[in-house]
Amino acid sequence: MARAAILLFALLCAGCMDSANVPGVTADPEQSAANAFPDIPSSTEAMQLAETGRKAFRGLGCESCHSITADRSGLMGPPLGGISDRVLARQDNDPLKARRWLVMHIKDPAKYPGAHVGDDAYRGTHMPPNPRVPDHDLRALVEFLWTLR
Ligand code: HEC
Repeated sequence: MARAAILLFALLCAGCMDSANVPGVTADPEQSAANAFPDIPSSTEAMQLAETGRKAFRGLGCESCHSITADRSGLMGPPLGGISDRVLARQDNDPLKARRWLVMHIKDPAKYPGAHVGDDAYRGTHMPPNPRVPDHDLRALVEFLWTLR
């Protein structure tokens, strides 16, 4: 039933948004989050994903604004060391929900803002949206973020 609904949505929506036409890219952030994280990866898969995700983090330019430690070192965005614990605390300590929130935030930070919106330190900077990242790359990117301490 759910699959049929998704198929119907995909058919109706085909062509209505640019990103819907790119293979592996899902326009709706919530659907993208569910596709990227139908489950929590096993520890072996998580390690492989984190390696791929590290490259995506560089390739997408995340590191131009974010440090991957707890130290901000003058960058334009909040440091991402320990981000998984912080997001978990905000998402009912549910590891699946927390991962899905990260996907939605990365795709559309204006619609799914993080904890630092309006902080004086980041007032001048807006995190850019990433609507064209394929779901499997988002899975890898978030598993990389999950390893940051
Ligand atoms: C132009 C600078 C910039 C770039 C590039 C950028 N960000 Fe951000 N990011 C920010 C700012 C500013 C915030 C704080 C506003 C907010 O929380 O929504 C933020 C917030 C976040 C948060 C939430 C932090 C929290 O504690 O709630 C995460 C996670 C994040 N970014 C990940 C990423 C990832 C992954 C990428 C690459 C795909 C990226 N960012 C690219 C500037 C940037």
